[in-house]
Amino acid sequence: MLKLLAPDVKIITTQKGAALVEGFFGIKDNIQVVKTGDELDLGKGKKLKFTEIPNVHWPETMVTYEEDSKILFSSDAFGSFGVHKGCLFDDQTPDINKQYWEDEMLRYYANIVATFSPMVLKAIDSLSGVDIKMIAPSHGLVWRGNPKAVINKYLRYANYNKDFAEPEICVVWGSMYGNTEIMLNAVLKGIAMEKVPVYVHRVPNVDPSFVLSDAYKSAGLVIGAPTYEYGMFPPMKYNLELFQKKHLWYKKVAFFGSYGWSGGALKDFESLSEKMKWDTLNPLTFKGHPTSEELKKGEELGRELASQVKNIPSKKKDENY
Ligand SMILES: Cc1cc2nc3c(=O)[nH]c(=O)nc-3n(C[C@H](O)[C@H](O)[C@H](O)COP(=O)(O)O)c2cc1C
Repeated sequence: MLKLLAPDVKIITTQKGAALVEGFFGIKDNIQVVKTGDELDLGKGKKLKFTEIPNVHWPETMVTYEEDSKILFSSDAFGSFGVHKGCLFDDQTPDINKQYWEDEMLRYYANIVATFSPMVLKAIDSLSGVDIKMIAPSHGLVWRGNPKAVINKYLRYANYNKDFAEPEICVVWGSMYGNTEIMLNAVLKGIAMEKVPVYVHRVPNVDPSFVLSDAYKSAGLVIGAPTYEYGMFPPMKYNLELFQKKHLWYKKVAFFGSYGWSGGALKDFESLSEKMKWDTLNPLTFKGHPTSEELKKGEELGRELASQVKNIPSKKKDENY
């Protein structure tokens, strides 16, 4: 688009960026390749300094720092989803919208960046000591009032898949005929007894990006899925495979689900949970409609998971946002 408006514009990018520009747009001319530490004097006191932060999120990602105004153009790092609602800057957003932006930042992180958390930590490390007055990412709010807040959030999110996350539970469930749904209510009753915050998502009704976001931050997960053709109910399998791609590791997890004759959902769950290094409670599977004894067990399952999640040491909340 920029090339259409200004055909003579020079593209400044990394070596990997140059290959992508050619691959995506067929552009080979007027490209200047830069690397970490390179500087570009724009005149009038403005100087750009480049730092490569590969794989946050694509391989060519680089941040650009303008020394005079102390602005960090951070590319995919420190971005958010969300619609601007009339405000471009964090210091313009009314307090009532702050939770919205926090949710959208986490949803962006979980869906776009989570797989690359080690690179995020490395990138944050490489920026330590840089005096930053404003962070202008390619997506979402521009952070002018409190740029440190977005760095702290990213630091927190990057640790979710190498450490325990928030002491909360994300319940993901699906049901064709309602049998697994009956058990869901028993499990939720058990969780409620321990007063642990809970998010409940039905698949495939909820967009997987929202499921992923709540599951990513929660230390505890509940997966409720019936058997379908000797395996797991496909929409649930899709969501769990997404969890695997985004490295939702080290969760405490409870599984339940109804089957008709052979079962099979549990086998798929076990194989996926092993790949994600999950700490699982005894699974609860049942034939058709759950009995009252099985429902009691469901309640106990929810309560046990919630009590374990409650006892995970909570990370200190960052005060800056
Ligand atoms: C398309 C389809 C395929 C199924 N495949 C199996 C199967 O392979 N093995 C099995 O034990 N039950 C199978 N079932 C039975 C369901 O697992 C059983 O009805 C269960 O109670 C459904 O739980 P729900 O009411 O929560 O949907 C199948 C049901 C459907 C509709």
